[in-house]
Amino acid sequence: MATQLPLRLRSALALVTGAGSGIGRAVSLRLAREGAAVAACDLDGAAAQETVRLLGGPGSKEGAPGGNHAAFQADVSEAGTPRRLLKQVQACFSRPPSVVVSCAGITRDEFLLHMTEDDWDKVIAVNLKGIFLVTQAAAQALVSSGCHGSIINISSIVGKVGNMGQTNYAASKAGVIGLTQTAARELARHGIRCNSILPGFIATPMTQKVPQKVLDKVTRMIPMGHLGDPQDVADVVTFLASEDSGYITGASVEVTGGLFM
Ligand SMILES: NC(=O)c1ccc[n+]([C@@H]2O[C@H](COP(=O)([O-])OP(=O)(O)OC[C@H]3O[C@@H](n4cnc5c(N)ncnc54)[C@H](O)[C@@H]3O)[C@@H](O)[C@H]2O)c1
Repeated sequence: MATQLPLRLRSALALVTGAGSGIGRAVSLRLAREGAAVAACDLDGAAAQETVRLLGGPGSKEGAPGGNHAAFQADVSEAGTPRRLLKQVQACFSRPPSVVVSCAGITRDEFLLHMTEDDWDKVIAVNLKGIFLVTQAAAQALVSSGCHGSIINISSIVGKVGNMGQTNYAASKAGVIGLTQTAARELARHGIRCNSILPGFIATPMTQKVPQKVLDKVTRMIPMGHLGDPQDVADVVTFLASEDSGYITGASVEVTGGLFM
């Protein structure tokens, strides 16, 4: 007879940003499978609702629980919005999220010599300021209610090693590592752990925009010989969200198939 493994996140409420696509959707599905209730947030509200539908809940109205889960539309880069989002989530579930996974992110690739200030600002606003605003709002909600938590920010291996055509993206992702380490130092006394994940190249709509020639070249450089699957990142998020990683904070976990080790 197969042994039933215990659900690792049975009493958790998880807020996932960027939940309408790629890694964020895979993370939402995986956390729900481990027993968490999921607040799925995306700039694209319809995509967030579709994620909630995939989670199996009947509800699809924004901000209304579908089974254990609910969808929210929000732009994480907009001042005041993440704080409002946290209030909405708290009102919906009667508690702050104990797991917060920031997956919302964008690219606006261009070589340094030609990059516009607008492309720089937009990527920093979503990828770095957005994570600052969400991390701050979530930490404030947890501290003021005396709850412990696990905050997981999706950075990138590019934040560590750089990448052609991505000065804005690499800077934003390097910033996420420093932000997360500092948050880990400040929030440990409140029982809140903060870690970042550095994915390599993962097959999602974001990498579908990369020319095939470039993807083929990258794939040849990956020791494991293939792009990652969003599920590979979701597995590590689940570990960092659960008490299995109870003594880990301030870490940057690479999920790259060995690329740039
Ligand atoms: N795919 C990869 O190879 C890879 C590698 C390293 C890191 N990452 C990071 O992982 C995260 C998820 O990437 P993905 O590949 O799943 O991309 P994706 O494009 O499939 O999904 C990103 C999601 O973020 C949402 N989003 C964008 N701007 C937003 C905003 N302002 N507010 C709220 N939501 C917003 C989008 O609507 C989309 O649903 C990103 O932070 C990305 O930088 C991806």
